[in-house]
Amino acid sequence: MKNGDAIRQSAEIIRRGGIVAFPTETVYGLGANAFNSLAVARVFEVKGRPSFDPLIIHVAHPEDLERLVKEIPSPAKNLMKRFWPGPLTVVLNKKEEVPDLVTAGLPTVAVRMPKHPMTLSLIDQAGCPLVGPSANPFGYLSPTTAEHVRNQLGDQIDFILDGGPCEVGVESTILSFLEEGPRLLRPGGVPLEEVESVIGKVDVTPVEQKRPLAPGMLPRHYAPRTPIIIDQRDKILSTYRDKKIGLLAFQDPTTSFPFQHIEVLSKKGDMKEAAANLFAAIRRLDALNLDMIIAEAIPEVGLGRAIMDRLCRASGPFLNERKN
Ligand code: TXA
Ligand code: MG
Repeated sequence: MKNGDAIRQSAEIIRRGGIVAFPTETVYGLGANAFNSLAVARVFEVKGRPSFDPLIIHVAHPEDLERLVKEIPSPAKNLMKRFWPGPLTVVLNKKEEVPDLVTAGLPTVAVRMPKHPMTLSLIDQAGCPLVGPSANPFGYLSPTTAEHVRNQLGDQIDFILDGGPCEVGVESTILSFLEEGPRLLRPGGVPLEEVESVIGKVDVTPVEQKRPLAPGMLPRHYAPRTPIIIDQRDKILSTYRDKKIGLLAFQDPTTSFPFQHIEVLSKKGDMKEAAANLFAAIRRLDALNLDMIIAEAIPEVGLGRAIMDRLCRASGPFLNERKN
């Protein structure tokens, strides 16, 4: 099907209250009309996502925010000017008409303008902003190709708008702008350094509270079935000699260990390329029925911060169990 036809069909489905997986520069999203609570409820159901976990609303123009949020503090405005369309999500005080289901009852709403021409045109043609959690079952890795979506959710959604592989590969950077000033809720596609070059210091201390502000903040999230261990290579290899182990390497690895499979994120050591390959590489390793995956740690600068955040959450409790 031609892209134009696929977009028209997707828009029609959205207008009728259906669900369409849509491409963005970060990961694929599970789209529905943000103002149709029934459609939004189906998104939660398909994803198996707890309803206390709020959704991001995707818009096609910065002006679309007028319908969604009360006021936009100037640091948020400056960031939107600089990074929209792009992998930046802002959390602002919401207007009453934004359904509570979308925001899980919070007085705030997360909004972003994605950078993918097909999705921007889908939002325009549908005539409504779209909720869009990553199009994966809750807790699993985000999809970066239409194929990833098809494999996991294909039979439960109405359409998959195929826009090719995602360029950025990790989810958007989420910043909140409430009374206490800008705070990083999730590192992502816009590096913190670039955010700070526009608005100055951002609070990066995690928010302590009963329910996570972003479940990307849960200790185990973005998780494959196979346990992931970050570094500790020598210890793991000597303890588990007879196991089937895969390696997720940043650059070309020099190793004599008989790994079952090695995935290299970026031969030339480019962080952007590594981020774009991250989830697909973990998915390929996860499909091999390995006993475990060793992931190389990378420097936590630029996109490295988002990559390490996802790796740590993907490794979660296994790492903790083995620590002692
Ligand atoms: O790159 C992305 O952001 C992708 C693409 C599809 O746009 N979307 C995405 O959505 O990652 P999701 O639902 O998988 O993650 C959104 C995160 C969740 O962790 C959620 O808790 C947080 O945003 N969030 C949503 N609304 C919020 C709010 N009002 N306050 C704080 N966190 C919020
Ligand atoms: Mg997600």
